[in-house]
Amino acid sequence: MNSLPILAPSLLAGDHANLATSAQRVAEAGAPWLHLDIMDGHFVPNLTFGPETLAALRRAGSKLFFDTHLMLDEPHRYIEPFAKAGANLISIHIEPEYDHVATLARIRALGCQNGIVINPATPAESVRHLLGQVDLVLAMTVQPGFGGQSFRHDVLPKLTELAGWRRQLGLKFRIEVDGGVDATTGPLCRAAGADTFVAGTAFFRASDSGAFAANVAKW
Ligand code: DX5
Ligand code: ZN
Repeated sequence: MNSLPILAPSLLAGDHANLATSAQRVAEAGAPWLHLDIMDGHFVPNLTFGPETLAALRRAGSKLFFDTHLMLDEPHRYIEPFAKAGANLISIHIEPEYDHVATLARIRALGCQNGIVINPATPAESVRHLLGQVDLVLAMTVQPGFGGQSFRHDVLPKLTELAGWRRQLGLKFRIEVDGGVDATTGPLCRAAGADTFVAGTAFFRASDSGAFAANVAKW
């Protein structure tokens, strides 16, 4: 079985008028990671946060692990500002054309962990050659761009494929899922090989976020 489960609530579903309060709610619920969705209006049809948002959350005292998901056409142009602003892990998509290998290495050189992301329609095979150079693989379980979408069950076999390669190659990267993850779909992802769970709606709309977070440990 893979690593201990980690919950990463997505701030996209938080209170955009009080982001620091929403981040504090994550910490009080006992979740160690905060998932930050960065969108450019090109790679995905939406706009969200910038580096200053991360810096402001750090100034406000957040000690959470900032899991920073770059949904950008040109992520290589923005990794320095996000690293300097307090990101702990920066994940980049495989789909846009840029130097993936150099960018993944640069993220680590800046003192952050790195991650590679694949959209639902993108086969796991497309990142196989990078598995030895990443700390995390994020398999999107919705088409990126918005929270509150329905979970794509057709992605589950991809998690098993990634977990199989991780075992065969003796690697330690985490396997993260993102999109429509809740108390029903989360355990399905866990059984398929995931160990890191992004949850926006399911965490921030839960009647008891602490109970939701505690439950993830049992998935
Ligand atoms: C979508 C984002 C997700 C999203 C998850 O593009 O990458 O992180 O915020 O939100 P829920 O859990 O509501 O699907
Ligand atoms: Zn995300």
